[in-house]
Amino acid sequence: MSTRILATSALVGPALADLGTRFPDLRIAPFRSPEWTAALPDAEALVVLLSEPLAEADLAAAPRLRAIGTYSVGVNHLPLAACQTRGITVVNTPGVLTDATADLALALLLAVTRRVAEGEALVRSGAWTGWAPDQLLGPGLAGKACGILGSGPIGRAFARRVWALGMTPRFWDRDGSGGSVDFGPDRAPRLALPDLLPQSAVLSLHCPLTEQTRGLLDRPALERLPAGAVVINTARGGILDESAAMALLGSGHLGGVGLDVYAGEPAVDPRWFGTPRTVLLPHLGSATVETREAMAKLLCDGLAAALAAPR
Ligand code: DGY
Repeated sequence: MSTRILATSALVGPALADLGTRFPDLRIAPFRSPEWTAALPDAEALVVLLSEPLAEADLAAAPRLRAIGTYSVGVNHLPLAACQTRGITVVNTPGVLTDATADLALALLLAVTRRVAEGEALVRSGAWTGWAPDQLLGPGLAGKACGILGSGPIGRAFARRVWALGMTPRFWDRDGSGGSVDFGPDRAPRLALPDLLPQSAVLSLHCPLTEQTRGLLDRPALERLPAGAVVINTARGGILDESAAMALLGSGHLGGVGLDVYAGEPAVDPRWFGTPRTVLLPHLGSATVETREAMAKLLCDGLAAALAAPR
């Protein structure tokens, strides 16, 4: 029987088509479409997006499955334990989206603090009447501390960026407190969350969504941030309690929030739409041409290796 690779969409660049040349029985069918469901029993490899959660039942419906490739670094949408039990290789895309995601987190931070969206809307509305001493002021960043949740490649890349702005990075990660993290030009302390939060004028999330990090930034945690703190989330929605963040923006405790990810995405809590001092993006962390091409290549190379391995 020939190898069947079942993908839910085309990827950026030539990698998926090249994989189809090497393993000719490649199908592209929309996620959970009748065609996708019908092809599942024959599939030896699946390609899914981060917005396409697979369940254990999907694995049960795919007895020939040997590999799952996700076009993302995040794997929280996959049934990892069941994959391990079945010996199904999981291929994701670490490393190649580090700079793009850190850049986007920085873009969100600058957009929130310098009120870029409000300024742009003011000019575009035709209502701008000219420069004014107190117009659209925001907090400066130089000299302030930046808490970073996650000391992996993206967290460290973000640290380099805020360090270049004159901020002092501090890390929290799942390895606990103590010691320091080398982020390239400098080292920064690794702190326990209760110690990190009160110091963080800016808090940026760069950790995966796991059982340990789900709901990590709940209301009590957010209340430990200093008044006026800015929260940036380019990691996963489930880490931040969005209702608590909204409430604390409303009370003035938080100074701003920048989001690229949402708990129920693509659904966005409509209360965000009317919430001032927020910038909302549609999960653009890895959205550069070069990055998406590199992700596709890494993913397809990983799948090819998994499929070429002896059964
Ligand atoms: C990923 O690939 O998991 C990121 O969320 C992209 O932004």
